[in-house]
Amino acid sequence: MPSLVIVGGFFGDEGKGKIISYLAQKDKPTIVVRGGAGPNAGHTIEDGNKKYKVRMLPSGFLNKKAKLMIGPGVVVNPDVLHKEISEFDVASRTFVDYNTGIIEKIHTDADSAGRLKEKIGSTGSGTGPANADRAMRTLKMARDIPSLKQYLADVPAEINLALEHDENVLVEGTQGTFLSLFHGSYPYVTSKDVTASGICADIGLGPKNVDDVMVVFKSYVTRVGEGLLEGELSKEETAARGWAEIGTVTGRQRRAAEFNFNMAKRAVMLNSATQIGLTKLDVLFPECAHAQSFDTLSDKAKAFVTKIEDETDVPVTLIGTGPGVTDIIDLRS
Ligand code: GTP
Ligand code: IMP
Ligand code: MG
Repeated sequence: MPSLVIVGGFFGDEGKGKIISYLAQKDKPTIVVRGGAGPNAGHTIEDGNKKYKVRMLPSGFLNKKAKLMIGPGVVVNPDVLHKEISEFDVASRTFVDYNTGIIEKIHTDADSAGRLKEKIGSTGSGTGPANADRAMRTLKMARDIPSLKQYLADVPAEINLALEHDENVLVEGTQGTFLSLFHGSYPYVTSKDVTASGICADIGLGPKNVDDVMVVFKSYVTRVGEGLLEGELSKEETAARGWAEIGTVTGRQRRAAEFNFNMAKRAVMLNSATQIGLTKLDVLFPECAHAQSFDTLSDKAKAFVTKIEDETDVPVTLIGTGPGVTDIIDLRS
């Protein structure tokens, strides 16, 4: 901090939502701002016995004082956004950039059938077709939509002003490094660059104003949709290991493989990561469930964390030990 960018290190669903909601409460940023593709993202956040699913708003909404912003590089489905604003009661602190792109029915229709759905396994959220229209310069912008008028703001100006005032700004990426249009396993990727540089461009944060980049890895790798997953386990083996997960947006079962150190190293390079957030250590090592300090982890779990640090040469600073926002080990000094 003051500016901390969070990005996914594998294929999305690394648990960024939980990491961001922890940081939004702990570091007290004045702004939590979303870059990334669009409502193809889905974060699940568990706080006490409450479970939230969020696709459009930043996952930092549990910090009741933070302004929640969506950058111009994102595409927004107004129906999904309005629903989340009312569900989380955040109308007074939600801000959408004038130039944020708008997903309409033609985009969701085009995404729900045909090549994108069948060949790529797209989420059907309209994100890809909307970004295609943006490239064609035909996409509507948030400034064209009367129902968004009360939320319109100059998001890059707000962020950069906050940083000038030494306030903390938490930047939320979505998807993951290997779903990036430029750096992922093309064509089985999303419709944008979702590495740290892309996320910063989405919100108008220049490279020299980035203080820290945290890449988030899950303790194993999952992938939804099509495309190669090296070392993919069978459904039976995935279930036997307790790694079976269901996608937040599409309800599809996620494919799974063991932690991939080569991918982790490449993700660190592509994102110029300064920190690693590691989630679901408790799934790999059940004896670590709900641990809050490194000392109380088992030797095997400690060795796994140390190996990640040795291989990537980047410190693991946050470790998730359960789905709850407070199931976390914070190793930042
Ligand atoms: P995308 O932006 O769609 O890539 O999503 P995401 O990275 O926010 O991840 P998502 O919420 O889709 O999936 C992660 C799941 O793991 C959620 O159900 C979280 O509640 C859960 N989770 C996150 N961290 C931990 C952890 O450390 N331990 C356990 N057991 N569950 C966790
Ligand atoms: P699209 O972004 O909806 O076009 O989907 C393209 C590919 O990216 C598909 O394989 C999707 O499953 C995957 N994808 C897109 N967004 C996410 C995400 O947030 N988490 C995980 N996978 C995603
Ligand atoms: Mg997700």
